[in-house]
Amino acid sequence: MSTSAALPSWLTATRRGRPGDDPIFALNAEAVARRARGEAVVNATLGALLDEDGRLAVLPCAAEAVRSVPAAEWAAYAPIAGPPAFLEAVKADALRAAPHLAAACAAVATPGGSGALRHAIATFLDPGQALLTSSFYWGPYETLARECERGLETFPTFGPSGGLGLAALDRALGRRLAADGRALLILNDPCHNPTGYSMSEAEWDAVARVLDGHAASGPLAVVVDAAYCEYGPGDGLARPLRALEPLLGRVLVLIAWSASKTFTHYGLRVGALLALVPDAGERRAIQDSLTFACRGTWSNCNRGGMHAVTRLLTEPALAERARAERGAFVALLRARVEAFNEAARAHGVATPRYEGGFFVTVPTDRAAERARRLCDAGLFVVPLDGGLRLGLCAVARADVERLVAGVAHALK
Ligand SMILES: Cc1ncc(COP(=O)(O)O)c(C=O)c1O
Repeated sequence: MSTSAALPSWLTATRRGRPGDDPIFALNAEAVARRARGEAVVNATLGALLDEDGRLAVLPCAAEAVRSVPAAEWAAYAPIAGPPAFLEAVKADALRAAPHLAAACAAVATPGGSGALRHAIATFLDPGQALLTSSFYWGPYETLARECERGLETFPTFGPSGGLGLAALDRALGRRLAADGRALLILNDPCHNPTGYSMSEAEWDAVARVLDGHAASGPLAVVVDAAYCEYGPGDGLARPLRALEPLLGRVLVLIAWSASKTFTHYGLRVGALLALVPDAGERRAIQDSLTFACRGTWSNCNRGGMHAVTRLLTEPALAERARAERGAFVALLRARVEAFNEAARAHGVATPRYEGGFFVTVPTDRAAERARRLCDAGLFVVPLDGGLRLGLCAVARADVERLVAGVAHALK
């Protein structure tokens, strides 16, 4: 086989130079290898909930529901937009704080919340336009945007008082609407990845006022990325729904729903995009466009997975078990969060308000250099632009003090 530098690339210009590796998975691989060599490693890079013994925490009821899916349900295609029973079940779950909104809801099944975000970006922005999100954000937002030739702009996540940067959000929305004639805002709440921040009711009200102020300037859509909605301080999506409902019809409210964290089945790839649209004609047009997008990307989703999730959401005994079993996982995580907050206070490590959820971020400069030093000490965290992300979801409570002490040392 011969190669020549003169050969043209088969990749189109926009697809060249794309990184094929994921830095978080690479860090995790190093942590796993060093632990295998007997080192006492704390691995806070992972994005999945582990129990206190370091095993993946799996809801037993969800594992049973998945195991009992009949072979024909795994084998057959699903309807393109998703099985109606699945979509109704997800709507009822996501909108349980405002069930009357189900009648105004278009919905399609997606492979996890990632698929829902993909459809939102590709459907409500044109190529060359940019989504808006906070400056700390889940890295794949940018990947999803670039993959479909959209951009990403950010506003500073936190304002001077430590809460969401509302004034900056206001200005950035104005910029996006002026530049693109439309805007798509993604807010991951509660339990924001990576900062751990959950917005208060008052902050959601303030976000609604900001959106309201821009609603007349062009088509404006907000995606509530609800990946962690069962782990936050409120009841599911009660806070955003209460605040955003008065805007319906003037602002498009989208919900990226995911079974990954909700049912601890990350690899099942079950999710949905919901769109709250009171006008029947517009709702049908959006439903059709999203269904077309399904056909034009993944065709249809994992039928067996959706069957299991539908049962978990709708069969009263299973749903009750899921709530109780998840409650134990939420408590497990809360105990780590409390241990973290206590240790952070003791060591003088400042973070955004952290009330629950998989991650927290310690804001700092020179994050890559500090993360490398932590790594040398056997403490694996994820360096971000402007902070260190600690995945408490993967850290046993007994290791939290050591992790925080190490971070405090690395910040000096
Ligand atoms: C902020 C955020 N949004 C969405 C997702 C979507 O995950 P999935 O595609 O597995 O549902 C994740 C998963 O880590 C996430 O952290």
